[in-house]
Amino acid sequence: MTRVIVLGADGYCGWPTALHLAAAGMDVCAVDNLSRRRWDEALGIASLTPIPSFETRVDAWNEVGSRPIQAVVGDLLDYDFLHDLIARFQPDAIVHFAEQRSAPFSMIDRLHATFTQHNNVIGNLNLLFAIKEAAPDCHLVKLGTMGEYGTPNIDIEEGYIEIEHNGRKDTLPYPKQPGSFYHLSKVHDSHNIAFTCRVWGMRATDLNQGVVYGTVTKETQLDARLVNRFDYDDVYGTALNRFCVQAAAGEPLTVYGSGGQTRGYLDIRDTVRCIELAILNPAKAGEMRVYNQFTEQFSVSQLAELVVQAGRTLETEVQVDHLPNPRVELEDHYYNAKHSKLRDLGLEPHLLSDSLLDSLLNIAIEHRDAVQSGSIKPRVDWRDTANKGLSAAAALYDPGSQGALRGAIDDVTTRGRQRDAQREAVASFAAK
Ligand SMILES: NC(=O)c1ccc[n+]([C@@H]2O[C@H](COP(=O)([O-])OP(=O)(O)OC[C@H]3O[C@@H](n4cnc5c(N)ncnc54)[C@H](O)[C@@H]3O)[C@@H](O)[C@H]2O)c1
Repeated sequence: MTRVIVLGADGYCGWPTALHLAAAGMDVCAVDNLSRRRWDEALGIASLTPIPSFETRVDAWNEVGSRPIQAVVGDLLDYDFLHDLIARFQPDAIVHFAEQRSAPFSMIDRLHATFTQHNNVIGNLNLLFAIKEAAPDCHLVKLGTMGEYGTPNIDIEEGYIEIEHNGRKDTLPYPKQPGSFYHLSKVHDSHNIAFTCRVWGMRATDLNQGVVYGTVTKETQLDARLVNRFDYDDVYGTALNRFCVQAAAGEPLTVYGSGGQTRGYLDIRDTVRCIELAILNPAKAGEMRVYNQFTEQFSVSQLAELVVQAGRTLETEVQVDHLPNPRVELEDHYYNAKHSKLRDLGLEPHLLSDSLLDSLLNIAIEHRDAVQSGSIKPRVDWRDTANKGLSAAAALYDPGSQGALRGAIDDVTTRGRQRDAQREAVASFAAK
């Protein structure tokens, strides 16, 4: 029986992945520190779909799912917790989703930038040490992002590129040109993972994922309490979700700049399958494998046009507006990223044209009364080092002030008083 720990299991990708792996017959331990729920509160945003508490969703799955999962609340920044968890559970694979994943969040101001890099880079480093010390043969499946590469004027390879220089050849890590402090944190993670594969013989797969869309998987459909997140706000929402919500609310779609920004995209059903495929086909000891995890490329304008067309099917007239781009990025560029390795392992992609109405637009229409229109307009300008209106929550995140950071984390990670319960949960699961 394959034993898997899913870190970040209360999040958008982690939740359906934990359920999918359980349904596929794996022993799943779902871990999260619930911090994302707190960040949402601090930023005044919320998932469009009403997600119940972590406890309620886990109980719901254990009631209706084919194979129960175990849930533990804990923080990757808490090394003792992490080491203990891995030592007791002895996983074959660990899937690591547990990071602060918003580029705008990381660009709000210094505190959000330092918090993001502290949470992501130190959390990932703690994980590498804990695996090496407690379960060195375990396969790390780490979520990276296509945003690590930026938009170079040449084809993007899957992690490595063969270079000829002054008459000599080598295969080297593909150059990275990340576009935010968040994307930079992912690049730092990739370097740390590659280093530990080389030096400690760790086995790892870095999945450079494109932008994920969709809310529904086979497992989340089983019960209303299993519903997945749908983020559409300016900080965590993606352009496609935002467009669907705007179309559902009868508002114009807001394209940033000219709309020529092109990226890789994939359906959430393909995310969960890619993770399963990576686990079933582990990297070799000492190998740092890199897969580009997306299925189709679109520019922002193409996405807007697809939503306009889908609106016509629903007999809704959809307008498109262009806003000054708050980000610093190329708006008219070459983009051709390779993505064949997961297909080679057996991925059969779902295409956006087939799921736009069902998995996005109709969900946005179903929940349109919950739309907070005020949270759609961009509030974070890449050129500004102190974006006003969002820095109020900064004290929560300041890693420079251990007290404030630890205080914020203490509230959500059941440290102290609840630590014993946490250890018991790990122990009882490990004993199964
Ligand atoms: N959503 C996308 O489109 C997308 C695209 C490319 C890559 N990714 C990557 O996939 C991963 C998951 O993204 P997501 O969209 O599910 O994000 P999310 O914010 O919905 O989920 C992340 C989860 O991790 C938890 N977490 C964060 N820091 C933690 C810590 N220190 N300890 C324990 N738990 C912690 C949060 O509470 C949250 O539930 C991220 O690493 C992200 O970079 C996502």
